[in-house]
Amino acid sequence: MSAIGTVLVTGGTGQTGRVVTDLLRRRGVDVVVASRNHPTEPPPSGVRHVRFDWADEATHDAALRGVSSLYLLPPPLDTDPVKVVEGFLSRARDAGVRRVVLLNSTAFPLAAAGLHAVRLTVQQMPEWSVLLASGFMQNFLGVHPTAIGVRERHEIVAAAGDGRMGWIDAADVAAVAAELLTRSDHDSREHVLTGPEALSYIDMADTIAAEWGLPVRYRPVSSVERTVQLVDAGVPQPFVAALVGADVLTASGAEARVTSEVSRVVGRDATSFAEFVRRHRPRASTTPRG
Ligand SMILES: NC(=O)c1ccc[n+]([C@@H]2O[C@H](COP(=O)([O-])OP(=O)(O)OC[C@H]3O[C@@H](n4cnc5c(N)ncnc54)[C@H](OP(=O)(O)O)[C@@H]3O)[C@@H](O)[C@H]2O)c1
Repeated sequence: MSAIGTVLVTGGTGQTGRVVTDLLRRRGVDVVVASRNHPTEPPPSGVRHVRFDWADEATHDAALRGVSSLYLLPPPLDTDPVKVVEGFLSRARDAGVRRVVLLNSTAFPLAAAGLHAVRLTVQQMPEWSVLLASGFMQNFLGVHPTAIGVRERHEIVAAAGDGRMGWIDAADVAAVAAELLTRSDHDSREHVLTGPEALSYIDMADTIAAEWGLPVRYRPVSSVERTVQLVDAGVPQPFVAALVGADVLTASGAEARVTSEVSRVVGRDATSFAEFVRRHRPRASTTPRG
């Protein structure tokens, strides 16, 4: 066991949690990965999985046993997570947890007060960090509605006008989290995390077109039109609200900022979007048809 003690990684099988776990292991830190489903790969030495469900309090105490720090992903798709997170952190304090690093977003809809309020909830812990992350570049990969639009229809549809956002690689968010979970000179505060440049969807479509060889275009729509599209596509309501809310903030210019927080905390540059899409070039089956 390291001097840091054991870290519980909630959402430990997700995009950021997997990288946080990997980086902690490389530092010799013991990790407990918490999620409802067992990881697809057997955990490496020093990592164990615990079944954890935000909706099932009976799983909470067992997850916290022997833990000293916590990577906290609030319950996904819950627009008012304060009560459940408060209860969990109270148990965490009783179990001896000192440090919590919360993943939050810069672009939650202003109407979803609970998503913002959870930032205050973690401040009751002896040591805390709040990561206010910009939009993840990973939204252009996998099963995210944006990624499906790019792959299947070669278009990015959004209600963001020509607004810009400081898109970030989720792996950079995870690198900041791993650093803050392990550093000895901890300073409890919020960190606004962005990539190295503020990009519009026009810029991103051009980059994807150049790097992936796909004729991708950006099609701006109204927020009402985008809401209807996402609902028709079967996207769950809270996720629709989050996506459209982020677009509206982007269109307003509120997301156009860029910070140097990743390089300040981790000591290397944040990944650019061009580098990201180069690294995640799709396989041949997604090249243009016809
Ligand atoms: N995408 C963006 O642009 C963006 C930007 C800024 C911030 N964020 C924030 O990032 C967070 C998502 O992080 P991520 O991308 O690392 O995760 P992710 O890839 O979406 O994975 C979600 C993780 O949470 C677990 N999980 C889901 N439901 C759960 C439940 N009821 N109880 C316990 N665990 C549960 C999942 O495992 P199981 O399903 O097995 O439980 C999985 O490990 C969200 O809070 C979002 O607000 C996203």
